[in-house]
Amino acid sequence: MSADLSRYKRDFPIFSRTVRGGNPLIYLDSGATSQKPEVVIEAEAEFYRSKNAAVHRGAHLLAEEASDAYEGARENVARFLGAQSSEIIFTKSATESLNLLAYSFSNPDSGIAVKSNDEIVVTEMEHHANLIPWQQLAKRTGAKLTWLSITPDGRLDLSNIDQIINSNTKIVAITHQSNVFGTIPPIKEIVKAAQAVGAYVVLDACQSVPHFEVDVKQLQVDFLAFSGHKLLGPTGIGVLWGKAALLDQLQPAIFGGSMVDSVTMQGATWASGPRKFEAGVPNMAQAVGLSAAVDYLTQIGMNNLAQHEHKLTEQLLSGLKLIKGVKIVGPTDMKDRGGVVSFTVDGVHPHDVGQVLDQYGIAVRTGHHCAWPLMKKLQLVGTTRASFHIYNNSSDVVSLLEAVEKVTDYFKVGK
Ligand code: ALA
Repeated sequence: MSADLSRYKRDFPIFSRTVRGGNPLIYLDSGATSQKPEVVIEAEAEFYRSKNAAVHRGAHLLAEEASDAYEGARENVARFLGAQSSEIIFTKSATESLNLLAYSFSNPDSGIAVKSNDEIVVTEMEHHANLIPWQQLAKRTGAKLTWLSITPDGRLDLSNIDQIINSNTKIVAITHQSNVFGTIPPIKEIVKAAQAVGAYVVLDACQSVPHFEVDVKQLQVDFLAFSGHKLLGPTGIGVLWGKAALLDQLQPAIFGGSMVDSVTMQGATWASGPRKFEAGVPNMAQAVGLSAAVDYLTQIGMNNLAQHEHKLTEQLLSGLKLIKGVKIVGPTDMKDRGGVVSFTVDGVHPHDVGQVLDQYGIAVRTGHHCAWPLMKKLQLVGTTRASFHIYNNSSDVVSLLEAVEKVTDYFKVGK
């Protein structure tokens, strides 16, 4: 029997407000950003109230306490991922993490720099944050960008994986869970293919780390990125994890204070470990807030959360299948998928669907979901997407299904 998680909704102050029409908020847009529990809001505020100082500078007590809190957050995030703290780089977002990595790969001083005869592999289901940085890396270095396609049911087409991931492949950058389909690609198989040719695997974990247990050692990937704001944490904080031996070989991409070993008027050398990638005063309060989110999720249990979202997803998929004129975009069963469900309503623009749902207090995401090439491939202008987190429950799904029925009535779908 799965745990009853309904009590957790009370931890999120935003649900005490009402939205349009005086309706209670039904928030189904956690794929875009999650809501924050009071403990996270308080952790961030408390840092500012009682510890605020620039970390790793200054000999005063506040600087020491702030540095301890910041480094404590790094250790906590590392534990959460089964990693070492020396492998955790704090950034401002997952997007920045992926750009930082791509730029470091194009620093010619990097021991593992990308060269013009290398290939970079992505997939057709990437969102822009895990596509454009690699396009730009290819452009800067002359490397070739190739990609794995999708199947009509929203999964990865691995039929030509041996040609796409080949002896020229240097990087395979892939999502851990599609933000449009909810699909969880077969990471093991992809890692095996990449390892066979000595390529590095970069995992975009934006939609996975916040929703189910992720252990970097088990996954055997080389780099992983996610953002705090989708994980019940603050905005302005992201994580780039990399294997220590690889981070040692990469050269930084952002330069300034705090990331140096020594500086002269002619040049500089870099600090060791993650600090070489963290130039400037970092987002300290946000790192502390992220650490509180990690504690909160750990106390709930990531497996309990995953089971909870699994049940809601199953309920939503079953309900949508019964509504005339509604098509699920992506896997229609529960095999290797997470708590993200995209759908279309025949003849109705997704923005119109979203606007009608909003009248009932239901917040969903509509549009291309920052995955424009995928939408073009599907020949869709966009979809309506519902995505879950700990604060959702079965009655949210019922409300969404009833409101989608109303959309089809309102727009006379099929009539
Ligand atoms: N990539 C984020 C989403 O799926 C922003 O909504």
